Amino acid sequence: MDADAAPAHPPVRVERRPVDEAESRHANGPDWDRYADEYQATHGEFLGDAGFVWGPEGLTEAEAGILGDVTGRDVLEVGSGAGQCSRWVRDRGGRSYGLDLSHRQLQHSRRIDLDTGIAVPSVLGTATHLPFADDSFDVVFSSFGALQFVADIERAVAETARVLRPGGRYAFSITHPTRWMFPDDPGEPGLVASQSYWDRTPYVEIDDLTGVVSYVEHHRTLGDWVALLAGAGFRITDLLEPEWPEGHDRVWGGWSGTRGRYTPGTAIFGAELRD
Ligand SMILES: C[S@@+](CC[C@H](N)C(=O)[O-])C[C@H]1O[C@@H](n2cnc3c(N)ncnc32)[C@H](O)[C@@H]1O
Repeated sequence: MDADAAPAHPPVRVERRPVDEAESRHANGPDWDRYADEYQATHGEFLGDAGFVWGPEGLTEAEAGILGDVTGRDVLEVGSGAGQCSRWVRDRGGRSYGLDLSHRQLQHSRRIDLDTGIAVPSVLGTATHLPFADDSFDVVFSSFGALQFVADIERAVAETARVLRPGGRYAFSITHPTRWMFPDDPGEPGLVASQSYWDRTPYVEIDDLTGVVSYVEHHRTLGDWVALLAGAGFRITDLLEPEWPEGHDRVWGGWSGTRGRYTPGTAIFGAELRD
């Protein structure tokens, strides 16, 4: 083995510090490009090529019904990854489109399009600059896509409101905000609160070799989300906090049965754009 070869996952140091939109995007696009193959190999079967799960608990859109009937609707998935959820929508007669920051994730989407014969037209882009005209969609959604990676969340929510038609549906899942109080550990240590729920300072990973920010996540409290949605003209209709199902033994990052029995891991908001 070449001792000088860069490791597959360069060592990172973790910090909590302010990071703006440009730095978040410059970190997270390449990070998802690096991670995409492993992500799809690890989680692809659980997600299903044309499946729609809202998070590691495995709650499906067929169970949640938070988007409403998608038949004949124009639907945008922001942070669409390999497009599994959008393919589920297409399978039910919706005209879904994907948008993602990572070229490699979109290559996986194209691969699954060809494998399944259900193609999701998708575009490389960011949640804060949606390349669509005003009033283009009936539904916009994100299943753990984009929102917690974006610094300028006001802009991302405003962009969603802009491309939605009046009365349109908006739904998204995120890491449950209360999880920010705990270490990101699927075991018992992940049940002991060690940081403030109200500390919005982003989680930042810095490449130890280059000093460059290589990954960023942003935190908003539940109250922040209510204010953001109301401020952009949405009426909140749902806040789902799926329970960890009995016998579900999957570990996904910091999500596990050990923690899921006590604390919610996922929050799913549903909202309607006021006329
Ligand atoms: C956890 S994955 C979720 C993807 C898909 N919904 C799934 O369940 O596999 C998060 C996705 O958000 C994308 N993403 C991150 N920041 C983004 C941004 N600013 N705009 C659009 N997509 C973004 C990533 O590239 C990644 O594909």
